[in-house]
Amino acid sequence: SQKWVLMVTAQTPTNIAVIKYWGKRDEKLILPVNDSISVTLDPAHLCTTTTVSVSPTFDQDRMWLNGEEISISGGRFQSCLREIRSRATDVDDKEKGIKITKKDWEKLHVHISSYNNFPTAAGLASSAAGFACLVFALGKLMNVKEDHSQLSAIARQGSGSACRSLYGGFVKWIMGKDDKGTDSLAVQLADEKHWDELVIVIAVVSSRQKETSSTTGMRDTVETSLLLQHRAKEVVPKRILKMEEAIKNRDFASFAQLTCTDSNQFHAVCLDTCPPIFYMNDTSHRQAPIISLVEKWNRAEGTPQVAYTFDAGPNAVLIARNRETAALLIQKLLFCFPPNSDADLNSFVLGDKSILK
Ligand code: PMV
Repeated sequence: SQKWVLMVTAQTPTNIAVIKYWGKRDEKLILPVNDSISVTLDPAHLCTTTTVSVSPTFDQDRMWLNGEEISISGGRFQSCLREIRSRATDVDDKEKGIKITKKDWEKLHVHISSYNNFPTAAGLASSAAGFACLVFALGKLMNVKEDHSQLSAIARQGSGSACRSLYGGFVKWIMGKDDKGTDSLAVQLADEKHWDELVIVIAVVSSRQKETSSTTGMRDTVETSLLLQHRAKEVVPKRILKMEEAIKNRDFASFAQLTCTDSNQFHAVCLDTCPPIFYMNDTSHRQAPIISLVEKWNRAEGTPQVAYTFDAGPNAVLIARNRETAALLIQKLLFCFPPNSDADLNSFVLGDKSILK
């Protein structure tokens, strides 16, 4: 009969860059100007859950995000759909008695339903989890045989940072050399068990949508910032090597120093853009006290205890060297964010499911 529906559900966590991606050398293919490195959060928190379904009764591709239908006519969605469809293979689901051939996939339409368990577009990399999950789920549905790295090169065309969410643990997005983007993909540097003492604390200071989209921001930066050119050519390549070493050796002092410095340089590059981009929009009230708190604490201890990093939004991501430090950090953060403030403190433990709060 023609009444069948085949469904796949996947869950993908977001990732936080410790060496930032900022600036594209090709906007359409989403090819970056430098390599980047990130930490993928535990899938239990900050993740996207996506169900993709196919049925001969569907007459067009459609998508719902957090329950509301959104348009997928844009280039990014279309690139991901096209790339996955072109790799679809035969499906033979004996249990349900459903057979789909490679040829059938060209005509069949999909419905996509996606939920974020965190604020969308508030600089918490919702598009990273979203596109990674979409590509992964579609790949499963269409029986695509490509490995995670090859899938990452497809997710990259949805949102650059999405390519890093195909893996857990520590992930590097290699910028690649070729101008078609086939070698611009993610590889896993170490899995989630490698350094599971680390605890990530996220202060959700504001769930407002960010004012400058990363696409517009990056375009302005690439066109106007000399500091970006220096960063991409001279700074990041060396930093990437040092960060890989720090991760391999679980060297928190180097890890923290590189993470904080790179976050600060990313925001410096934003300020060096014309017109300037202020992602730390509430700096004097929110971010500056967190940065000073961490800097003072690390200096007083003689060796770093906590690293901070800020993305394209005001929320603070803090990485504590272990659980005891994370507990202390949350107490200290309460001075910046008293319980009656609008901020929401959450901690996410890498590698296992426990939450401190
Ligand atoms: O993937 P996009 O276009 O959302 O860009 C993300 C950029 C940063 O989050 C600021 C840095 C990064 O490497 O994730």
